[in-house]
Amino acid sequence: MSLQLRVYVPDHPLIKHWLAIARDRNTPASLFKTAMTELGRWLTFEAIRRWLPTVQTELETPLSLSEATLIDPRIKPVIIPILRAGLTLLEGVQAVVPFSNASIYHLGLVRDEQTLECSCYLNKLPDQFEPECHILILEPMLATGSSLVYCLQEICKRGGQVENIRVISIIAAHQALQKLAKEYPNLQIHLAMIDPELNKNGYIVPGLGDAGDRAFGT
Ligand code: URA
Repeated sequence: MSLQLRVYVPDHPLIKHWLAIARDRNTPASLFKTAMTELGRWLTFEAIRRWLPTVQTELETPLSLSEATLIDPRIKPVIIPILRAGLTLLEGVQAVVPFSNASIYHLGLVRDEQTLECSCYLNKLPDQFEPECHILILEPMLATGSSLVYCLQEICKRGGQVENIRVISIIAAHQALQKLAKEYPNLQIHLAMIDPELNKNGYIVPGLGDAGDRAFGT
């Protein structure tokens, strides 16, 4: 396997449309939440292609026998939203991941406004992940990349394998992608857009502002 960060930005009108709605400062919180849900849905639809394990089977249609492909019920996917903003994607992701048995583990990280380093205030990750565990991380804004790096370290400490992880994000700054390429070169990230820069407060420009504040009206 090549060790190169894989960043996918699907060229899709629905993704572009909902990104525009989310970016617009005049979008009210309720529509902003809808936009994030839709982005979560369509980015996950792309991300789980060639990721969800399947099994071959045979079934009877009303007319004949037919070969068929089903999602492997033995693989229980895991969803990790990084709080707060990751929660805005969750509903859309759940609409696409077709399992009632997917586990959701919350990780709460807060950013120091001065140093831009993150610290953890809630860690509901299990003690151990099976190596074959399939994990979706939800982190909409990759500004410096430090929250995602923190999350990946916690997952890897517990036995999770980077090649089985997909990151669902909305906007990444170049700076975050450079850091991730250095630290997790075989990571796969699905995004709506890459933006050029961060401002002095660590916000992505043009970005969409503070995703948590906009969704939760704070
Ligand atoms: N987090 C956000 O919500 N927005 C940014 O631009 C950067 C980090």
